[in-house]
Amino acid sequence: MQKPGKNFRTIWLAPDNPAIVQIIDQRRLPHEFIVADLKSYRDGVRAIADMQVRGAPLIGGTAAWSLYLAALESDGNREHIGKAAEELAASRPTAVNLQWALARMLTAVSEQEGAELVAVFRREAEAICDEDVEISLGIGRHGLTLLEAIARRKNGARVNVLTHCNAGALATINWGTATAPIYLAHEAGIDIHVWVDETRPRNQGSQLTAWELQQSGVPHTLIVDNAGGHLMQHGMVDICITGTDRTTRNGDVANKIGTYLKALAAHDNDVPFYVALPSTTIDWESSDGLQDIPIEQRDPREVTHIWGRNGERLQEIVTVAAGTPVSNYAFDVTPARLVTGLITEAGICEASAAGLAGLFPEHARIAS
Ligand code: MRU
Repeated sequence: MQKPGKNFRTIWLAPDNPAIVQIIDQRRLPHEFIVADLKSYRDGVRAIADMQVRGAPLIGGTAAWSLYLAALESDGNREHIGKAAEELAASRPTAVNLQWALARMLTAVSEQEGAELVAVFRREAEAICDEDVEISLGIGRHGLTLLEAIARRKNGARVNVLTHCNAGALATINWGTATAPIYLAHEAGIDIHVWVDETRPRNQGSQLTAWELQQSGVPHTLIVDNAGGHLMQHGMVDICITGTDRTTRNGDVANKIGTYLKALAAHDNDVPFYVALPSTTIDWESSDGLQDIPIEQRDPREVTHIWGRNGERLQEIVTVAAGTPVSNYAFDVTPARLVTGLITEAGICEASAAGLAGLFPEHARIAS
């Protein structure tokens, strides 16, 4: 059984061959657990663009390891590395961790002129991934305090969390962001239950979050994307926790399409709406989410087709009339005013410039 926890990773160096990076091909879950090899940086570009890997922190980790593969191919040729960095940067636009990881990798080599490129990239990619695991655990510990408080208020009765998309271990290196507090609460014996939004069109909720929670034995229920408002109106949600692909320095949050509608419903029903994020997801250069965050538009086929199991076969079927016009915005922006708080590795803060600057004064000072 593969489950988030001590021995789980979403990306790693092949144990018997340091020229191969391995990932879980997330397009096959929950029906098949397949490990895929990345043998060149172009495999990394494809893995990100085609969503074999997805989720902001894992996209960053994959970009880092892909630059390491580029260094292996490059024979010391920095032009090759530059080209790889450009292609990786263009592979998906919204998750800012991608740009962050590439910048960190390139800074690491520029600070060590003459050092062995491959060794520096390997160390840095390992560090990025190891740190991400610790960051997720930090988010988990801070988020756990919120869940404990709700459990106390309810005298130990079940705590119901609603989440959208997959901000779980599969979206990070381990533990997840939104799910880290949930896993820790479950481990601590809190009676916790998760409403899992299906998350059309790629179904990260039904295919990834539900699978992860099931592997870990966390009680959960899959719901269609439009059910959340109804559940909140009937007091069936104590707290919403989502992840984010990019959060501006004033606390606007880009996340999977539909997150904004959940935040609106939460606001209307006095349900606290929290966003869990590593500091690597903060875009310190941007202060207006609606203006500044590029929203990815993906292939219409994601909307017109659906993939799943039919008996023994995995197959895709078309669900609409031929020629139906489609638009497929992959993310939306939830304004800071609808976010109750941000759960980070450094603590929980208000979704505002002051809140984030209080937790990360150094970053905020450089950005202003
Ligand atoms: O399109 P995806 O699957 O990459 O989108 C993922 C999300 O929107 C996640 O909620 C977000 O990246 C946070 S991951 C910890």
